[in-house]
Amino acid sequence: MAEYARLEVDGHVYELPILTGTEGERAVDISKLRTQSGLITLDDGYGNTGSCSSEVTFIDGDEGILRYRGYPIETLAEHSSFVETAYLLIFGHLPTQAEREHFSDLLTEYSALHESMMKHFDAFPTNSHPMAIMSAMINSLSTHERPKIEPGDDAALEIYAAKLISKIRTIAAASYKSSIGQPIIYPRPDLRYVDNFLHMMFSLPYKEYEASPEVSHALNMFLVLHADHEQNCSTSTVRMVASGEANLYAACSAGVVALWGPKHGGANTEVVTMLQRMRREGISPQEFLNQVKDKKNNRRLMGFGHRVYRNFDPRSKILRGAADRLLTAMKIDDPLLGMAQELADLALNDDYFVERKLYPNVDFYSGVILRAIGIPLNMYTVMFSMGRMPGWIANWKEIHDNPGQKIYRPRQLYVGSEKREWVPRHAR
Ligand code: CMC
Repeated sequence: MAEYARLEVDGHVYELPILTGTEGERAVDISKLRTQSGLITLDDGYGNTGSCSSEVTFIDGDEGILRYRGYPIETLAEHSSFVETAYLLIFGHLPTQAEREHFSDLLTEYSALHESMMKHFDAFPTNSHPMAIMSAMINSLSTHERPKIEPGDDAALEIYAAKLISKIRTIAAASYKSSIGQPIIYPRPDLRYVDNFLHMMFSLPYKEYEASPEVSHALNMFLVLHADHEQNCSTSTVRMVASGEANLYAACSAGVVALWGPKHGGANTEVVTMLQRMRREGISPQEFLNQVKDKKNNRRLMGFGHRVYRNFDPRSKILRGAADRLLTAMKIDDPLLGMAQELADLALNDDYFVERKLYPNVDFYSGVILRAIGIPLNMYTVMFSMGRMPGWIANWKEIHDNPGQKIYRPRQLYVGSEKREWVPRHAR
């Protein structure tokens, strides 16, 4: 039986349908409220607003649950590869052997960049931020070909999705190579996704890099854990751009830019910068927490807190163990991991963090893993963008395939000046 919430304003009662999601989550549907009443809802920062219905990812922030297409993140982190997870996110089911091989073949086929795109790398100033290069290069893919995908045409989408997922890896490695003045290394058709990336990052024309199984495994897991996270800032941006019917490349390049900031994907860089600073300046974890808690310092414990998770971030739990295992396997004694663990343990028992329900998020331990692999600090958010690409594509597809999709166009509450009289220049 249909359920309704009742809203009473100025003596009128409006009945607003209550919708229930697969996992029992309930939402008040206000889409007709303005037509019926002239009222809009106001929720700056969207803390309480569902912007869409989606079938891709489920999060229960109170219970610390994250599932891609119904599969728990813990299971995927243990058993799945990034390529398989990408397929799952985009097409909604685990690929059969044949589907997996076909998708992998496409990734191999499309891994190289058009030769003219290589020239772009020389044109960016040295010290350009790799996220600026990444976004610009993804956008410039549409100068070579505009993806032609009819709504519901999964075969066409598969081709362009493979192009994007494969080329973002080539662009990431090429931007690093050009930033350090080394020759760009071409992809190798015999290597799997993660190993091919490491080859393009670390091989030299005269010396092949060989990834150890521990490093490949850790990076694969890093990418799986970053592959989607429902309506976060960058994914909402991709959906926003997609709703105006911009092409897949354009929408995903907007996603890269949205990911850049320190409150979102940029946090992984900030965590390691924070730990390095503490070490350099001899600030103990407890002293640092005291600085964070003192609001006049306007400082945050980076890698802590999440809009949705109010108990724990399951990705962070997995990464803490993975960081430990990787460093042990590589016989690395990284003091930053010890500091991170001490900070986390102190914060988790500190009233300030407990009361605000602040827990380590995905970015807290990921930097330690990337450091051990040898990924430079300014590439951390680029690594996040590589991981998030399948989620962006899956969300773009939901918008693109929806025949009734409206353009995303929020309302606002105007609080600026009232109507004013024009003052001629000489009289101002
Ligand atoms: N350190 C110290 N205090 C914090 C932190 C933090 N990391 N995060 C939130 N707070 C405090 C904040 O000062 C506020 O306190 P008060 O109520 O006294 O004013 C309260 O907690 C609520 O904070 P908020 O900013 O309103 O919460 P939000 O849900 O809007 O922000 C967040 C979520 C992730 C942006 C925020 O927790 C943050 O800035 N964390 C640090 C950056 C970070 O790690 N970002 C990565 C997020 S996970 C991956 C991703 O999305 O890319």
